[in-house]
This record gives sequence, structure tokens and C-alpha cells, in this order.
Amino acid sequence: MFMKDKNKSVKLAILGIGTVGGGTFRIIENSHDLILQRAGVDLRVSRVLARSPEKAYRLGIPEKAVTSHIEDILEDDSIDVVVEAIGGIEPATSYMLKAMQKGKSVVTPNKAAVAKNWAILHEAAEKNDVTFRFEAAVGGGIPIITSIKEQLVGNNFTEVRGILNGTSNYILTKMADDNLPYDEVLKDAQDKGFAEADPTADVEGLDAANKLSILIALCFNMYVDPETIPTRGISRINEADIRSAEENKQKIKLIASARLEEGKLTCKVGPELLTEEDVLYNVNDEYNAISVTGDAVGEIMMRGKGAGAFPTGSAVVGDIVSASSTILLKRHA
Ligand code: HSE
Repeated sequence: MFMKDKNKSVKLAILGIGTVGGGTFRIIENSHDLILQRAGVDLRVSRVLARSPEKAYRLGIPEKAVTSHIEDILEDDSIDVVVEAIGGIEPATSYMLKAMQKGKSVVTPNKAAVAKNWAILHEAAEKNDVTFRFEAAVGGGIPIITSIKEQLVGNNFTEVRGILNGTSNYILTKMADDNLPYDEVLKDAQDKGFAEADPTADVEGLDAANKLSILIALCFNMYVDPETIPTRGISRINEADIRSAEENKQKIKLIASARLEEGKLTCKVGPELLTEEDVLYNVNDEYNAISVTGDAVGEIMMRGKGAGAFPTGSAVVGDIVSASSTILLKRHA
């Protein structure tokens, strides 16, 4: 057991206790002592913003910690880190901006809000001298953002390409391997917590476009509004398309890609026919994979679960601990 040390305690609020918020809470509960031992951070979930409190109670969150009023969290000076897991662009963006204005660090898996409001969220973090992290916004549990920003920081990137949506990859895999109809697999993906509340963004490629916009900003220091990325989804792919690909030893995958050549950026999201030689050919089910090419490192690929409560929660917890370490350093400076 570890001694409770007030100086190591970091207080969190989680906004939204759906798939990702719930997964994050459970990982923190299960790994509290491990995180304290490894990172020296004593994480405390002190408030939860929940639309339906019963869901929060079922997770074992005490009644006094649950609120349906954002002000209870924004006005609470003891809260160090706000985890925004309600999704959607608004009110999520306003809540994040207000939290930063109150001096709180912000962690989010919200790709739609981060991609749409890239500049204002980053400016607010800088202005208020707080940490803003969003590792879970791209590739679920895959630590691609931290890798690009930190470990691969010395590279000029020329290409980023990947499978960025777990739901559509799950649908395409089950249609091909198990002969299941589109609608049935989509329902299954929703039941498993892979799909967004409205799965249109998943199957029409918009979710992948949001993630590609974030990767472009990180790799190429350019902002591309996700709405301007040429995007096609998988909703019109039928069994005949899948069988015809199989006959040619190919697979249909939803691919997001961006390339920088002589200062000119090209990018797109859409279904592509992949051959066995392609590094993305064997990335199946809800798995995602992202390949980046840098002038120093060459091509590097990361693969892992791109959707679901625990893989995504894993990335959120990593960001929380990172933000908390910075908070503790400042506290003890
Ligand atoms: N709905 C998303 C997906 C969740 O299927 O990839 C993870 O961002």
C-alpha cells in the first residue's frame, strides 16, 4: 500500500460518463496505486458531470460527486484537471475554454471539437498556461499523437496514412469474413460502444476526416478544416463489392491519407482496395493503424484498438497523468 500524500494529490472532474468517461473512471479506479507508484500522482475523481446520474451511481461514483451543472465544476478551484468526454463540438468546446480560463488543464478524446476548434483551444491553453492534451482523439489507445509531438519531433514528415475509424473497419471486416449484412454489423458496433451516438460520422468518413485534420496539423504544421477534406464513407459498399475484392485477393478499407510534396498538401478519406502487400491489409475489426513517414525515421507504423471504452480510456488516463505531473512540478516549484 502507498501512503496518501496530499502533495501528490490531483483532483479531476469528468464531463460525461458514457463509453469513454466510464472507461476512464474505471481505469483510474483499478490502476490508482499503480499510477501512484509509477508516476507519483495520486489521482482523485472529485466531480462527474452526468446527464443521467443513475449511470454514474452504477459505476460506484458517490452521489455527492455527481452533478448536472457545469458551474459546480468550473467554479470549484480545487479541481486541477477537467476531462471533457461529452463529445460533439458544442457545448464541449465552450466547457473546455471556460475550464482553461479558470486555470484548469484539459484532457479530451473529442476529435470533432479539437479538429474544428484547433486554434482557439491551443491559444486558450497557451494564454492560461495550462496543459491541453487529446491523445485519445486519434487512434483510440494508440499513442500516435505523443509519438509525433515528442519522440518523432526531429522529423520532417512527408506522409501520414491510416485506418482511423474503428466502426467502419469493424463493419468492413465482419461483412467480408463473416458474411454479415451491413445493418446488423453496424448495430453490433453500436452495442460494443465503438460507434458515435449518431453513427453517420463513422460510416460517412467524417470521423476519419476529423482525425486526419488533427494528424495534418501535428505532422505538417498546417490547419485543414475537416469539412474541406475530400471525404467518402463506406455506407454504399455492398456485398457484391466485398466479394469482387476478395476474388482479386484484395480488401476494401476506409483509408485516410495526407502527403506533402514540394510544399503542396494533398489529403483525402475514402474506401480503397488494398492488396496483401499493403501494411494496412491485415488491420481488422475495430483496430486502427497509422503509418507516418519522416525524413529521419523513415516509415513507422503503430497499430492498436481504435475504439471502445478501455483502449480509449487508456489514452485519456495517459494524458491525465502527464497533465498531472506538470501540475505537481509547478506546485512544488
Ligand atoms: N467512433 C469512433 C470509431 C470511436 O469508431 O473509431 C473512436 O474515435
